[in-house]
Amino acid sequence: MRIGIMGAMNEEVAPLISDIKNRTQEDIGVRTYHSGLLYDKDVVVTASGWGKTASASAATTLLVHCGAEIIILFGVAGAASGELNIGDVIVAKDLIHHDLDPSPIFPKYQVPLLGMSRFETDTRLRNYAISAVKKFISSGIIEHSIDNPARFHITKPAIYQGLIASGDQFISSTDVLSQLRNVFPDIKCVEMEGASVAQVCYEHKIPLAVVKVISDKADKSAKTDFPLFLSKVISHYSRGIIQNFLDQL
Ligand code: ADE
Repeated sequence: MRIGIMGAMNEEVAPLISDIKNRTQEDIGVRTYHSGLLYDKDVVVTASGWGKTASASAATTLLVHCGAEIIILFGVAGAASGELNIGDVIVAKDLIHHDLDPSPIFPKYQVPLLGMSRFETDTRLRNYAISAVKKFISSGIIEHSIDNPARFHITKPAIYQGLIASGDQFISSTDVLSQLRNVFPDIKCVEMEGASVAQVCYEHKIPLAVVKVISDKADKSAKTDFPLFLSKVISHYSRGIIQNFLDQL
């Protein structure tokens, strides 16, 4: 079985790409797709770029051109729920386009013609993701490998399962965040790719897992927390979590 793995940014998938054995690469459009054996599994890995169009395009290429039979989307997100801290991990149960508004022709947030607004991840893959994250957290890798985990107050990351809201918008405002919380009281985090990948997987009947690590609180500190987390911390999560995940397949 061929496994498609994608992140929005190079930093999210770079450690995985460098761990691929017998690596070959193919440029399709503006993206590079890296294939080979990752922790003994047949994979194809790419960085999509930011936003829903970029991620939908990359996911479609993974499925249609590269032959991926499942997809794992991995990366960072902004916390949308007050209980979350930087470093915590969200495994998506379902995903929604928070910026989709075809009203009054169709209901707000509903994808026209598909007639649905929430896209669920695959139950089996979701459970693998949860086990992978739990094993990773209990390994203590985070506390021991990050230069200064206290900068982000990361001690023992927590894991949550729930709703991820995606939109073509980097959120760095508590006002915008509280509007989103009012509309989606069960929201866990915000990011810019998940719902579009989930929609592509739904359309192609491809099982999907989404794992997101909180890089910022989507408030005014996000513009400094996000790049710091991306450059210093995310690589420690991607290798550990994805290896534990693939070990179960
Ligand atoms: N991804 C990581 N942090 C984010 C934020 N604050 N808004 C949107 N996407 C994000």
